[in-house]
Amino acid sequence: MSIVDEIEAKQNITLEQLQYLLDGNEADYLKQRAVAVRERIYGKDVYIRGLIEFTNYCRNNCYYCGIRRGNKIIERYRLSQEGILACCGEGYRLGFRTFVLQGGEDEYYTDDRICQLIGDIKASYPDCAVTLSIGEKSRGSYEAYFKAGADRYLLRHETADAGHYKTLHPREMSLTNRKECLYNLKDIGYQVGAGFMVGSPGQSVATLYEDMQFLRELNPHMVGIGPFIPQHDTPMGDKAAGTVDMTVTLLSIIRLLLPRVLLPATTALGTIDPIGREKGLQAGANVVMPNLSPREFREKYAIYDKKICTGEEAAECIECLKKRVGNIGYSIVCDRGDYKVGE
Ligand code: SAM
Ligand code: FES
Repeated sequence: MSIVDEIEAKQNITLEQLQYLLDGNEADYLKQRAVAVRERIYGKDVYIRGLIEFTNYCRNNCYYCGIRRGNKIIERYRLSQEGILACCGEGYRLGFRTFVLQGGEDEYYTDDRICQLIGDIKASYPDCAVTLSIGEKSRGSYEAYFKAGADRYLLRHETADAGHYKTLHPREMSLTNRKECLYNLKDIGYQVGAGFMVGSPGQSVATLYEDMQFLRELNPHMVGIGPFIPQHDTPMGDKAAGTVDMTVTLLSIIRLLLPRVLLPATTALGTIDPIGREKGLQAGANVVMPNLSPREFREKYAIYDKKICTGEEAAECIECLKKRVGNIGYSIVCDRGDYKVGE
């Protein structure tokens, strides 16, 4: 039995097997198996999520992130409730049935405001899923958002290795709290997304092994991974970016470990390689998350340098993606794109 077959059969991986695959062994076969698993469950459909980056204010100071509070150079913005609803309206017209509200941890957006916003979106678009990605909150806040109608929550764990976590975040942040948030979200009933950056400074095969084991334990509905890309005004601005090969290999491995998971080919992957998202989809990913934020704000959500699609309107982005996805034999569907539960 090949190593890839063994991983697929056991839905588990050892540290040695991870090292072996990250060294590039069985690369084509790994992709082939990941695609077979993805197609068995999700066919050739690609789900789309309309990403609305509604605020770049953040109270946190993650060392890698361009919108950290310590970045005094970046121009801050936040969209109004009306502005966000307008993005949803345009998205709905273009075929989106999931809206992802993502932002820094912005204290202006209190729980009441977030709940109001969710309620308004759900009232106007009852057939759409609302995903939140607004960071670490109390269990009570997560419960309130869920009651207001939020369906899903994205909170990358960033790294499951406590030592590595400390090198990426200031002292006031902890892996323990991040994990607790994820378990709370799952327990409340959200479809939950975890994930991490590939090639973050100081990451090793051992830390990635911790990520694989944590993902197996949490068993999230979604996993967002993309390469780390330096942002020049952050403390990690001079570090090297993660690579396409490593990201693609990890996408395939995650598909084998969690066969039903919703797995995006991220914008970061498309940023380090012009056909990065296609490579991700050809390695087991099944989701793309085009930007629905108004064009004038896109450059300001500068979490990393040279982010793609900052100059296009949402309509242009979706047309471009439809072509790209079609060219590799997949098709974008107008659907909420929920997690498919097994029989
Ligand atoms: N505040 C929310 C949170 O903490 O989950 C959501 C916004 S945060 C900007 C979204 C994700 O961007 C993070 O989880 C992180 O993995 C990713 N990110 C931040 N800086 C990055 C960088 N320099 N390169 C690649 N991804 C980055
Ligand atoms: Fe808050 Fe990145 S530091 S979103």
